[in-house]
Amino acid sequence: MGIRIIGTGKYVPPKVLTNHDLEKMVETNDEWIRSRTGIIERRIVEGDIAASDLATEASKIAIEKAGLKPEDIDAIICATITPDMVFPATAYLIADKLGIKRPGFDLNAACSGFVYSSALAYSMLKTGIFKNILVIGSEVLSKIVDWQDRNTCVLFGDGAGAAIYTIDNSESDILAIELGGDGGCADLLYMPAGGSKMPASEETVKNRLHFIKMNGRETFKMAVRMMTESVEKVIQKANIKKEDIKLVIPHQANIRIIDAIAEYLGVRREEKVFVNLDKYGNTSAASIPIALDEAISQGKINRGDIVILVAFGGGFSWGAIALRY
Ligand code: UT7
Repeated sequence: MGIRIIGTGKYVPPKVLTNHDLEKMVETNDEWIRSRTGIIERRIVEGDIAASDLATEASKIAIEKAGLKPEDIDAIICATITPDMVFPATAYLIADKLGIKRPGFDLNAACSGFVYSSALAYSMLKTGIFKNILVIGSEVLSKIVDWQDRNTCVLFGDGAGAAIYTIDNSESDILAIELGGDGGCADLLYMPAGGSKMPASEETVKNRLHFIKMNGRETFKMAVRMMTESVEKVIQKANIKKEDIKLVIPHQANIRIIDAIAEYLGVRREEKVFVNLDKYGNTSAASIPIALDEAISQGKINRGDIVILVAFGGGFSWGAIALRY
């Protein structure tokens, strides 16, 4: 029995925020953002739209493409660092919006959330707990981005991607999983306030502590190192060769990080590495499932192809999955 992705979907909010728009908000410019990150524009929600709203839209598409009905979904895992609220988990709110009552939970591994959630779905399918698991990455980062901080506000965007994993006797399978973490780096990429260590207060709001803080340079160096190492290890575990890989779908944080992965693989980025961060920026846990859906829709992945998903994010967390689609 193998694990198979039977449907994917994505949803991004309609409002586009370009680099030129950002020039009017902070001291930055289109040239700097493009050359240092590869981002040209990103999508931003309006009003009270939350992670569960984006997730529900992406999920409906994934369910339809899988040829299923919402009732066929046995459990929901929602990877997010921007849940609708601290509790209940966004997964229950999504289930309710889909019109079903199902078990589910949110998973916080920041930008590695979809890779971690897929690994978990794999285990739960292999042990026979469930048959169809809806795995979602959904983020409304625009609500935790400090729009006065040019070091971070130019990087992030909102969106959701969803995939349905099932277990059946097809040739498809997850070939290897490689996960890593280092909590010693927690304060290099984090949101200081709003949790039990530093609950919301007048002070935390005044000091702008409910926003993403990042040491960009250190995060960049670790991202390059751990993403290339993860790809190397997952290739070894899966017992495949670099040449066997049809497509690498990396977390979309910075084009220079993605280029480093292409260089490691010894390929031209355009050939084997999927990129869409020019349109969406960094959407954290949503970036890989959005890219996966686009890669499938564009015919860049076909049944039987070997695909690598690789991520890095806050925690620090990182990981890669090798799968036969
Ligand atoms: O999703 C989780 C993983 N996240 C990542 O992997 C992000 C990793 N980090 C990065 O992608 C990059 O470090 C950044 C894009 C965040 C920054 O690029 P960098 O090449 O590392 O720039 P830097 O932080 O070293 O800053 C270079 C200069 C600084 O000026 P000085 O000190 O050299 O005078 C910054 O103040 O660029 C300046 N700068 C900006 N200039 C114009 C920083 N942000 C901006 C901006 N516009 N938005």
